[in-house]
Amino acid sequence: MKKIIPVYVRVPLLFALVFMALEYFIDSGDKPAFIKYPMVSIFLFVFLFIQIAIEIVISAMDKITYAILTDEQKKKLAETEAMGIQESEWYKKLKRIFTKSRPIEEEGEIMLDHNYDGIKELDNVLPPWWVYLFYGTILFAVIYLVRFHIYGDYNQKEEFETEMAEARIAVEEYKKTAKDLVDAETVTLLTDAGDLAQGKTIFETNCAACHRADGGGGIGPNLTDEFWILGGGIKNVFHTITEGGRDGKGMVAWKGTLKPSEIQLVASYVISLQGTNPADAKAPDGEIWKEEGAEKTEENTDQNKVIHKERYEGKMVRSFSLSENVNPKDIYAEFEDGVLVVVVPKLETQQVEDHRITIS
Ligand code: HEC
Repeated sequence: MKKIIPVYVRVPLLFALVFMALEYFIDSGDKPAFIKYPMVSIFLFVFLFIQIAIEIVISAMDKITYAILTDEQKKKLAETEAMGIQESEWYKKLKRIFTKSRPIEEEGEIMLDHNYDGIKELDNVLPPWWVYLFYGTILFAVIYLVRFHIYGDYNQKEEFETEMAEARIAVEEYKKTAKDLVDAETVTLLTDAGDLAQGKTIFETNCAACHRADGGGGIGPNLTDEFWILGGGIKNVFHTITEGGRDGKGMVAWKGTLKPSEIQLVASYVISLQGTNPADAKAPDGEIWKEEGAEKTEENTDQNKVIHKERYEGKMVRSFSLSENVNPKDIYAEFEDGVLVVVVPKLETQQVEDHRITIS
C-alpha cells in the first residue's frame, strides 16, 4: 500500500503527539513532566527507540516482499502507487456513502426531461450527510424544547450567574497560587511563623544595614515602636517598602529588587517587631498610627449571646463594658487571621410571675 505520510514526518509526529499527551495528562506543577519525573524521559526515549526499530523492520520487510514479486506484480504495484488519493477505490466508496451520487455512466437514468439552452438538470437525491444533519437539528430542537421550555432546566441568567461564580472561585484559586499578585490594596498580614522567618531573612539581608537587625533603627527610623512617618499597618508598610520613602531620605523603592510576595513577607515581619523594644533603639519619628481597620466591627446579638467581631492588624488592647445580664464566666475570645471574635453569653432571663393585688 502506498504510504500517505512519509516516514520522516510520521516518526516525529507520533512522537510529538505522545509527548504532548504525557505533558497534558501528567500533573507536574510548573516544571515539564519529563524533567520532574525521570521515568517519563526514560519512557519517551524507549518509545522513540521502538518507533525507529519498527520503521526499520517494516522497510526491510517491504524490500524483501518487493524482491520476491513477479514482474507483473511489480508493474501493478507501481500503478497503484502512482494513483492519487481521489482515484483510489476506498475514496470513491466513501464519497458514494456520503453523497449517494450516481456514477457518470448512470446519469442518464436521473436526467429530468427539460432543457434550458442546453443546460440539463439531474434529479439527484439529497446527499445523506445533509439529510442526517437536518434530522439531527430537528432532534436537537425537540430535546432543547423539552429541557428548557417545558422542564425549565436553567435560563440564561442562571447560566451566567453559575459561570460567574465558577470564575470567581477560579480567580481565588489563581490568586492563592500567584502570590505575586498582591499589591498595597490586597496585601494581608502574614502571621505564620514560617512566613515571619522568611521575612526575617529578607530583612537581615536587605534592611538591617539601615534599620538594624533588631529593627531598632539607625540611618532609617525605628520600626519597633508605634510611631510611623509614612503610616503603619500592613498596607502602608507594604506601600513604603514597594515605592520607597520620601525623596532624598535614603529609603529606596524595593519593587525592582524584591518580588511582591517577598515584600509581603518582610512587611509582615516588620509589623511583627511592634513593641519588641530593643535596647538603645532610635527615638521615635512620626506619629502614632491608629489602624482604621479597628472600626471594622460587627456585632450580633441573639437570644442568649452577644457576638462581637473585629478586624485588626498589629497589636491591640481592647476593653469592653458588659451589660448587666451577661454571664462573665463563659466569655470566650479568639483572634485568628486578624479577626477578633468575642462571644459573651447572656444570663438566662428569669421570668417573673405576675402578682396581682386587688385593692378595694
Ligand atoms: C539605605 C538605608 C535603608 C535601607 C537599606 C532600608 N531602609 Fe527603610 N528607611 C530608610 C529611611 C531613611 C527611611 C525614612 C524614609 C522617610 O523618612 O521618608 C526608611 C523608612 C522605612 C519604613 C517606614 C517607616 C515609617 O516610620 O514610616 C519602613 C517600613 C522601612 N523603611 C522598611 C524597610 C525595609 C523592609 C527594608 C528592606 C527591604 C528597608 N527599609 C531598607 C532607610 C533604609
